[in-house]
Amino acid sequence: MSTDEKMAALLTEGRVFPPPDSFVENANARDKTLYENAEKDYEGFWADQAKELHWFRPWDKVLEWEVPFSKWFVGGKTNICYNCVDRHIKGALRNKAAIIWEGEAPEQQRVLTYWDLYREVNKFADVLKNQFKIDKGDRVTIYMPMIPELVIAMLAVVRIGAAHSIIFGGFSPESIKDRILDSQSKVVITADGGYRNGQVLQLKRNVDEALAGNDTPVTDVIVVRNMQYHMDIEINEDRDSWYHRVMRKANHFVPAAELDSEDLAFLLYTSGTTGKPKGIMHTTGGYLTGVHYSTKYVFDLKPEDVFWCTADIGWITGHSYITYGPLSNGATVVMYEGAPSYPDKDRFWHIIEKYGVTVFYTAPTAIRTFMRWGEKFPQRRNLSTLRLLGTVGEPINPEAWMWYYKNIGHERCPVVDTWWQTETGAIMVAPLPGVIPTKPGSATLPLPGYDVAVVDKDGHPVKRGEGGLLVVRKPWPSMLRGIYGDPDRYYETYWKKFGNLYFTGDGAKIDRDGYLWLLGRVDDVINVSGHRIGTMEVESACVDFPSVSEAAVIGIPHEIKGQAIVAFVTIKDGVAHTLDLIEEIESHVVEKIGAIARPEKIFITAELPKTRSGKIMRRLLRDIANGKVLGDTTTLADPKVVEELKQKYESEESS
Ligand code: WT7
Repeated sequence: MSTDEKMAALLTEGRVFPPPDSFVENANARDKTLYENAEKDYEGFWADQAKELHWFRPWDKVLEWEVPFSKWFVGGKTNICYNCVDRHIKGALRNKAAIIWEGEAPEQQRVLTYWDLYREVNKFADVLKNQFKIDKGDRVTIYMPMIPELVIAMLAVVRIGAAHSIIFGGFSPESIKDRILDSQSKVVITADGGYRNGQVLQLKRNVDEALAGNDTPVTDVIVVRNMQYHMDIEINEDRDSWYHRVMRKANHFVPAAELDSEDLAFLLYTSGTTGKPKGIMHTTGGYLTGVHYSTKYVFDLKPEDVFWCTADIGWITGHSYITYGPLSNGATVVMYEGAPSYPDKDRFWHIIEKYGVTVFYTAPTAIRTFMRWGEKFPQRRNLSTLRLLGTVGEPINPEAWMWYYKNIGHERCPVVDTWWQTETGAIMVAPLPGVIPTKPGSATLPLPGYDVAVVDKDGHPVKRGEGGLLVVRKPWPSMLRGIYGDPDRYYETYWKKFGNLYFTGDGAKIDRDGYLWLLGRVDDVINVSGHRIGTMEVESACVDFPSVSEAAVIGIPHEIKGQAIVAFVTIKDGVAHTLDLIEEIESHVVEKIGAIARPEKIFITAELPKTRSGKIMRRLLRDIANGKVLGDTTTLADPKVVEELKQKYESEESS
């Protein structure tokens, strides 16, 4: 199906699922009170949410807003780590599991109670502060596999008022290097290696490569021994320290710093429309308020829940819904290191059965993979503890939604499709599962406290039944505070288009009931398996290959991944078009960015369609790759180029 056909199919979706009575009975939100309160008094509503956290000092003012910069809970003092850990060890949660960790190799398991977590975090905070001299405001880069030490490290960093910059373990040395330079981190925390899909990730080696050369700001690397004795790594005595050694010398208590609500908590790099990733800045009080609130009401979390979010902590989903949101709500979190198919395709369902997971959160791309594998895998396991399901990362097609609802939730569990972004910090559009009837394929309505709208190109709201651009009209507590080191780009990217509205980069349609149907990105960003990749980034990586002269990258619909990357490249004179060349370019892109950026297809062409002013017309390339009739070609310098390209592409596709 083409995108247009898919959209048409989506919008005739008529099924509605009201919240089941059994769910409503015990839900944290059972009626429209939150919506009404937020409507009546926006700032008062958010103040009420923030009051659920511990503040060392109350704020003087809820919000200061001067487009595009907001400050929330001004003058208030708090600490994210204190709220996620210290707060819970004083009462009944002290000896309850905070993290249940499951390794990829079966039967590998570790449980940390809140008290255990408290002790480890304190020790590591002391290590950072007293052995490595990390001060308030310093940036610390973390490049780790999905192991408990990653959660310990991030909590320790925010405990002492430093800011973390976590890099997903799938990124290449060059990507690590760029992010370290941009953030000017003094310390990197990593592990010797990690497991994924039965393979070993060379984490320490990648860090070594990223730090080679003398322009690095990094003075120290702390290495967790994760692979026991199975892995040889190089240790540079002047720079590297083993985590377990430094932990032996640590003090057992470091007070949580009384931070300003607006102190930087972390940077998280995400792809944009230029080749350079953006360091999205999140601060302390507002961010935690946003994730605490959404976890409590969208996931309906209570201390007795066992919550499993399958994301990697290297992405915002993992930051907000593995670590900060669930822990600040005192839940028990399942953390799984590995792949869904290892050793067999029922691994996720096995984990749900083994630990009695009650709330499960995953991505549409994973659901489509499970659909393809077939029902027999979930049928092998007892999934009766589940009471709520969630999805995130990309639009979910109604078939996948229904499959999830039936085969995982057994038609008993509400499904919450949650729309949000790295920049929004927390979920913004999703149903409150005990209040809002769901429709397969729709993220439903903005949560209470969020003014999300669909507008036309002039910023006017579209009528119900129409489509347009998704924007946010009022500031919100967990909104990004900017792009690290680049305030102009912050304005350009999100605010310039409308002046006083935050532009999400997404298209959406609003239906008769006011429900939102997300339609994907409208900018030069591709969403592959729920991960954002800038077309420019992939283009620069292609062009960086010696024999490539030009590249144009687009996204095409993909059955499992949502979208896939297609690169059209021209090569320098005298270079032969061989299959090897295609493979070499492909490997080069992976080497430059990481495996997530691997093109699905590289198409070598003599010329790219360009306007008379020399701009590559990606729109026409998208038409070609989608098998569509070519759009307007009148602005082309040479219309023949695109006709020939279309013919060649189609003959290659059919061969
Ligand atoms: C982009 C943000 C924060 C979640 C992980 C991705 C797309 C995200 C949905 C959804 C339709 C969605 C949007 C958004 N997206 N969730 N439920 N329905 N689209 O975070 O890398 O910051 O990407 O993911 O296009 O802009 P991200």
